[in-house]
Amino acid sequence: TTEEMEARVWEIKKQLGSRLFIPGHHYQREEVIQFSDATGDSLQLAQISAANREAEFIVFCGVHFMAETADILTTEEQTVILPDMRAGCSMADMADIHQTDRAWVKLQQLFGDTILPLTYVNSTAAIKAFVGKNGGATVTSSNAKEMVSWALSQKERILFLPDQHLGRNTAYDLGIPLDQMAVWDPHKDELIYEGNIENIKVLLWKGHCSVHENFTTANIEELRKTQPDMRIIVHPECRREVVAMADDNGSTSYIINAIEQAEPGSSWAIGTEMNLVKRLMAKHPDKNIISLNPNMCPCLTMNRIDLPHLLWSLESISKGQVINPIKVEKNIADDAILALNRMLQHK
Ligand code: 13P
Ligand code: SF4
Repeated sequence: TTEEMEARVWEIKKQLGSRLFIPGHHYQREEVIQFSDATGDSLQLAQISAANREAEFIVFCGVHFMAETADILTTEEQTVILPDMRAGCSMADMADIHQTDRAWVKLQQLFGDTILPLTYVNSTAAIKAFVGKNGGATVTSSNAKEMVSWALSQKERILFLPDQHLGRNTAYDLGIPLDQMAVWDPHKDELIYEGNIENIKVLLWKGHCSVHENFTTANIEELRKTQPDMRIIVHPECRREVVAMADDNGSTSYIINAIEQAEPGSSWAIGTEMNLVKRLMAKHPDKNIISLNPNMCPCLTMNRIDLPHLLWSLESISKGQVINPIKVEKNIADDAILALNRMLQHK
């Protein structure tokens, strides 16, 4: 039963003490997040992993790229475990390293040595290694503005992988007009742009988050008509038009803070993953909180980490037969850490 599984998780946690550390992303299920030793957005989880030198086992409740990042940022002696190997991220899968190598050759032919690559942390370790090797950095939704500004102070142009929406929203907020942005289509190996190619500053990879693309301008128009008092806050993985029409946007931690600081009685429509929206509804009964898309939008891969998988991985540790360890190859990790450190050390 659920109660038995929960009791066993608590028992193993007690047994292992500080040998075990469980970080949990804000999109994780309630049944899992209740056991996490730390919760956070992607940046905070990377910082927390980098700081932990104590735990032998890090059972990462999040998706594959987050566990890879944790592995890169921890030591050889520490083992990062992903409770379900099927917990990937469809956005991270939209940029593979072969496509990226091909794109890089073509873009250098077009623009010469004027491009610095940046990658959203939602990417494979191989993409982070490519970026690290070429002088670039990782970014998250909570530091994207700082990192894009930094990159554009280093080189004339950036290549932003793999989320076109976060890239476009961030560059637009920094005052870069849309006609100075182009989209690289990795399936056609072609650059899509309007206007003069020489003016292009931001090369966006054609990737997106399938969860956040479900929040639409039609959802916002409907709410503005029926509930004009509703404040609308969305994640910057939403499309540009949606972010433009919303009242505010930011990372998962930013959204949580905004709701925590909101007036009792205020009304909020949130455009982000369902587990977080539900948690905020439960935590703030004094506020009227809804999902911007009435269908609620789950991230299926985040949801793959459930109580049975968490327990299964913990049992394997207690038996000394660790399942699902995430080990990034050393030659990839050595380059990827350059990109991660440029972000973590950025002031
Ligand atoms: P943040 O928690 O950094 O806002 O990231 C959101 C996300 O989509 C993670 O996959
Ligand atoms: Fe990937 Fe989107 Fe799920 Fe985040 S919410 S893990 S970006 S698919």
